[in-house]
Amino acid sequence: MFEAFAPTNWEKWPTHQFTETIGPKAWKSIYLTPVAEGPFLWEESDMADAGGLLEARDLKEMPVQGKGIKKKWIKGSDNMGWGMRNRLSRLIGKDGHCQFLPIDHGYFQGPTRCLERPEDTVRDLLPYADGLFVTRGVLRASMDPDMRTPVILRVSGATSVVGKDLANEVITTSIQDMLRLNVAAVGISVFVGSEYEKETLQNLALLVDQCEEYGIPVMAVTAVGKELEKRTSRYLALSCRIAAELGAKIVKTYYCAEGFEKVTVGCPVPVVIAGGPRCETELEVFQFVYDGMKKGAIGVNLGRNVWQNPHPVATMRALNAVVHDGASPEQAMELFRSLKSDQD
Ligand code: 5RP
Repeated sequence: MFEAFAPTNWEKWPTHQFTETIGPKAWKSIYLTPVAEGPFLWEESDMADAGGLLEARDLKEMPVQGKGIKKKWIKGSDNMGWGMRNRLSRLIGKDGHCQFLPIDHGYFQGPTRCLERPEDTVRDLLPYADGLFVTRGVLRASMDPDMRTPVILRVSGATSVVGKDLANEVITTSIQDMLRLNVAAVGISVFVGSEYEKETLQNLALLVDQCEEYGIPVMAVTAVGKELEKRTSRYLALSCRIAAELGAKIVKTYYCAEGFEKVTVGCPVPVVIAGGPRCETELEVFQFVYDGMKKGAIGVNLGRNVWQNPHPVATMRALNAVVHDGASPEQAMELFRSLKSDQD
């Protein structure tokens, strides 16, 4: 106990820090809390860090330059705000690569084969996904809110395969709902070269405006629907570059064997590749993903070639090996076969 003067309102006094000299170059901090009125009594408080303050550190021994914050490199992200970067970083692994799992197909084509019950489709695949691309309807109705996989919310739509033109999309989700759903990113399609080129690019620009405000990255989905027929590097490079220029933080497109590096080099933000309809063999899938990665893609957003395969988990894991471990198509094939026979 220490005795001091006696204020009348002592119970409102907070804990005070006092410095006591205990040597020529050492000081001790003591924390005192008032416990009664006059003569005023102070009690030494139990401050968690009080012990740590006993010895002053000799800063002369520390290097002048710190090591800084170790960061993985994400193309185009150097000037992002903390929240934007953190969201993007949740979707991209330490190696700078990613494997997204898209299940958004129903938003324009209804109950797609093998996606009739999305919760069943993703149950065993989610542990291997760096992000789930999904609409808010399926997210709320069919996904477990305790899941740890970051969400990329599909926020464009309002057209269908039986309608007049698939490209005539609008933004379908408010910024409030994107925030409410705690998304890591949002995804929107653009249809460069279509009748609705201007409208869909304007949708992208407006979405970027809304999302910049809250630090939400926008993923642009390029070259879908009829535009898929124009799968040349020239067209893909044009679409991806325009999407990035309008503010997309990541661009999803298709792989093309001829000149794909033109697409990735010409795009100032990361490019991920989608799969399209199912390939005839697994090796074909592993091969184009491997080639795409070698030519600068940072990962994949593969749906039908994963969950329409009779062995979706084996496919997903083999792709993971290509994307994250640099496995060759042949090694991925070997892994696929062994995982497949484990599950049979
Ligand atoms: C549809 C999409 C899908 O997410 C995308 O096409 C990926 O799926 P798949 O690999 O089955 O093509 O954006 O508009």
